[in-house]
Amino acid sequence: MASIRIGVFGVWRGETYIKLLANESDVEVVCICDKNRERLDAMEKFVSCPRFTGFDEFLEYGRSQGMNAVFLANYFNQHTPFAIRCMEAGMDVISECTAASTLAECVQLVEAVKRTGRKFMLAENYPFSAANLRLREIVRSGELGRLLYAEGEYNHTGSPEMLKRLTTDPNHWRGWLPRTYYITHALGPVMFMTGTMPKYVSGRAAHSDVLYELRDFRRNFDGAGMAFMEMDNGMIVRVTGCTAMASDYSRYRVVGDKAGAEAGGYIGGGKVRTFWHGHTKPADEPSNVRIENADFSSYGEKGERAAKSSHSGGDFWVVQRMIDYFRDGIDPFFDVYRSVAMSAVGILAWRSALHHGKNIRIPDFRKKAVRDRYRNDCGTPFPDGEGKGATIPAALPWKE
Ligand SMILES: NC(=O)c1ccc[n+]([C@@H]2O[C@H](COP(=O)([O-])OP(=O)(O)OC[C@H]3O[C@@H](n4cnc5c(N)ncnc54)[C@H](O)[C@@H]3O)[C@@H](O)[C@H]2O)c1
Repeated sequence: MASIRIGVFGVWRGETYIKLLANESDVEVVCICDKNRERLDAMEKFVSCPRFTGFDEFLEYGRSQGMNAVFLANYFNQHTPFAIRCMEAGMDVISECTAASTLAECVQLVEAVKRTGRKFMLAENYPFSAANLRLREIVRSGELGRLLYAEGEYNHTGSPEMLKRLTTDPNHWRGWLPRTYYITHALGPVMFMTGTMPKYVSGRAAHSDVLYELRDFRRNFDGAGMAFMEMDNGMIVRVTGCTAMASDYSRYRVVGDKAGAEAGGYIGGGKVRTFWHGHTKPADEPSNVRIENADFSSYGEKGERAAKSSHSGGDFWVVQRMIDYFRDGIDPFFDVYRSVAMSAVGILAWRSALHHGKNIRIPDFRKKAVRDRYRNDCGTPFPDGEGKGATIPAALPWKE
């Protein structure tokens, strides 16, 4: 019997992981769930296991079959309550972003992990591209000197037709997602490379006329969102949430007092560029600019599999880290505390943006006194299925 007996909840994004999990010898997909029958049935070609349209039946069947883990790939803003139910049923949880959509949910998630003793990790994949892994190596080698500054820019532009296809109903999260909320693909790599935690955040956003034209089905018509942070080592960081800027790349950059290194952007996918001041260049470097091609060739057989996997190999490495954690007890970088810290940055950067960049302390959810302060903070931009319950605007105020 496989060590990890997992269920997958949500099979749209979940399809990618169903395929990857089905390829792992020590993982068995026990059952899958999606309320969209057509999407659910289409998974038959990848995995032959029972399929459920309701979460309760999915969980109950899984429990009866010794399911010990769940992959959450349901709606962005609804992960926490399902994560808690799975952990209370004795299962470990790997969750798509974001871990929590309110500060109260950050508290609930942390306390559920503590109470149940179950494992929780975020399926954040952008840190694990070959270029971002190489950037991390460079940062950790100390070559850059004392870290001063970093940036993470995640762009996801799309045609109106594509946005309509992804925003499946008037209350769907993609139509109400403030620009800073989808933050993990920009901030996650920076935290992973530098090993730092955010302490303070200030956010800004900017209105887009192009997105405003889509206001009959999307209410989040800002085109750019930014979060500026002070980290716990004193460095400063600027990241986008998910922006819709006219740009065809994402990029990551870490700058120290001796050198700076970057990936993506103008230098192209898979390349990493390091730049030294003239006087800080090491004697054995031929030039003060070094450009390397990053790939997975030093990662052996797994590297070969990663090179063929989606999101520049990131999805493959997420599954490997899940196996390391759930089966072998190796702690993941994106544990519950780092995961809720990222959610809190997205939430608070948005509150800040609505107040012209007010600086806000990121709660340290390890501390009970801090958790007590936020346990009733349920403010959300997301409406429920009936279109009710949103208490925070999804875009900056705008008058034509
Ligand atoms: N890491 C990445 O690169 C990446 C890429 C795409 C999406 N995502 C994340 O994956 C998650 C899902 O996004 P998506 O692209 O699949 O779009 P989506 O959120 O529209 O799809 C969610 C799926 O879950 C199902 N679902 C939702 N609630 C359900 C319920 N209560 N019962 C049964 N089924 C339910 C829906 O029918 C749908 O098929 C989101 O959190 C998103 O942020 C991550």
